[in-house]
Amino acid sequence: MTVQIQEATAQRGDESSAAPGHGTAADGLGWGRHYAMVRPDHFRVAYRINPYMDLTRQPDPDLAVQQWTGLVAVIEAAGGRVEVVAQRQDSPDMVYAMNLGLALEAGTRRVAMSHMRYAERRRETRSATRWFQRAGFQVSTPGRDGVGAHFEAGDAFPYAGRLVIGYGPRTEELALKHLATDFEVDVQGVRITHPGMYHLDLAFCPLDKRRAMVCPSAFDEASAEALLALVPEPILLSEEDALTFCANSVVLGRTIVMPACPPRVRDELEAAGFTVVLIDVSEFHKGGGSVRCLTNPLDIMIGRHLDRVVGGRVSIPV
Ligand code: ARG
Repeated sequence: MTVQIQEATAQRGDESSAAPGHGTAADGLGWGRHYAMVRPDHFRVAYRINPYMDLTRQPDPDLAVQQWTGLVAVIEAAGGRVEVVAQRQDSPDMVYAMNLGLALEAGTRRVAMSHMRYAERRRETRSATRWFQRAGFQVSTPGRDGVGAHFEAGDAFPYAGRLVIGYGPRTEELALKHLATDFEVDVQGVRITHPGMYHLDLAFCPLDKRRAMVCPSAFDEASAEALLALVPEPILLSEEDALTFCANSVVLGRTIVMPACPPRVRDELEAAGFTVVLIDVSEFHKGGGSVRCLTNPLDIMIGRHLDRVVGGRVSIPV
């Protein structure tokens, strides 16, 4: 398994079909071609831990499976690979695979499991831990069973050599130290203040080496500034834009798979050489997640997409 991933990564490169002057082969993210996803066999809204969840608006189970299968097909058509994790019957939110853990490869495959803020989601981690172990990952956790720092992996993405981690609604600041030290990476913390953008992946979407979608109003002022300082050419999202879930997208080379895309954002993405592929995942919006939340990238490498820093480092904007 490890060998396969390394080969895939080595051969993959950052191929691009963009015209000259747009994104080029060398400037892509370099990750985002290999995902774990959880088949929605037991998806429903069983409790309310974010403002989208409403027990009187249940997803249609057949339509959810259909939309999820469609997303897998779109990712595969864009050159991605998907590994499927079975859903626990007692864990309706497990479909949001992004939150299971943060997988990072550094010679060996490692994963920092999430330590969910809400007890309702903590059983997911037990099954996900076994899945990652069977797949050859060395597993660690910043806390578990409610003891220790909370960390939810939808709050963490590599950008500009750093591991950007959103904290506040879900992840706790203390988790940033654990992750920086354990993985020996440079962590840029950003404090999320918007109640509707409880994970970083609702307000920040890395696009390529120069670009990312950023919704500044999700963060406190110093954090928005620190995040924007990492992105030479940000595509700015208003609060209204971000609440369409448009930042909750996945990027495969120059293809961006999105649940929604406001016209101005689409113009900017296309001007930057991206092909926008829209996919309807409406049933999953009822639980407060979209395309990015349904996927968990398995091909992020320390030393390639994240700088290695001996002992680790954390920056928190003040
Ligand atoms: N109902 C889930 C929760 O509140 C939604 C998770 C969305 N996932 C994400 N990566 N943003 O935890």
